[in-house]
Amino acid sequence: MSKLNIAVLASGNGSNLQAIIDENEKGNLDINITAVVSNKEDAHALERARENNIEAIFVNPEDFSSREEYEIRVIEILEEKGVKLVVLAGYMLLACKPFIEKYYGKLINLHPALLPSFAGTDGIGDALDYGVKVTGVTVHFVDEGCDTGPIILQETIEIKEGEKKEELAQRIHKIEHRLLPQAVKLYSENKLRIEGRKVINL
Ligand code: GRF
Repeated sequence: MSKLNIAVLASGNGSNLQAIIDENEKGNLDINITAVVSNKEDAHALERARENNIEAIFVNPEDFSSREEYEIRVIEILEEKGVKLVVLAGYMLLACKPFIEKYYGKLINLHPALLPSFAGTDGIGDALDYGVKVTGVTVHFVDEGCDTGPIILQETIEIKEGEKKEELAQRIHKIEHRLLPQAVKLYSENKLRIEGRKVINL
């Protein structure tokens, strides 16, 4: 069977992109990373893509009159590349209607907390500030809400007494680097089925 064409959308460091690249190079994933797309020209994720001979594409939101127009352009790029799965890995723009309509069920996101708790841009800091004893990582399909889509995988982590954000972030990233490639693998092997709010792991 031919490899699954995926694209990764990222705005920052791209350590999760790297985790996918590494697992793919080890032969653990049957995917072809067709492009890395970013809304930030200086995203380190784009650099990582170039270093790994993956096309790195910066699409400047300022060139578009609305978020919808911007997304329509990104969709065009993904269509040209025959992308069948879109992975949001630290992509700091909320997916809007054009994206959800086009890619529902083919669009996954990674979140550094146990959804539905601590949705939003600072899942790690918000969990710490709230004082929860347990937090974690979630990989989910994206729907029209903010971090609300059907959950594919979750893993918990206990917060240590007095733990600082940097240390917790490091421990969370370690889990993310395992969980995101695992979700991509399940998807590429056709082992995920969405039934309403639930994802059945076949
Ligand atoms: C991750 O913590 C992810 O959960 C969140 O953004 C971060 C991206 O990290 N959505 P990186 O850019 O992959 O290093």
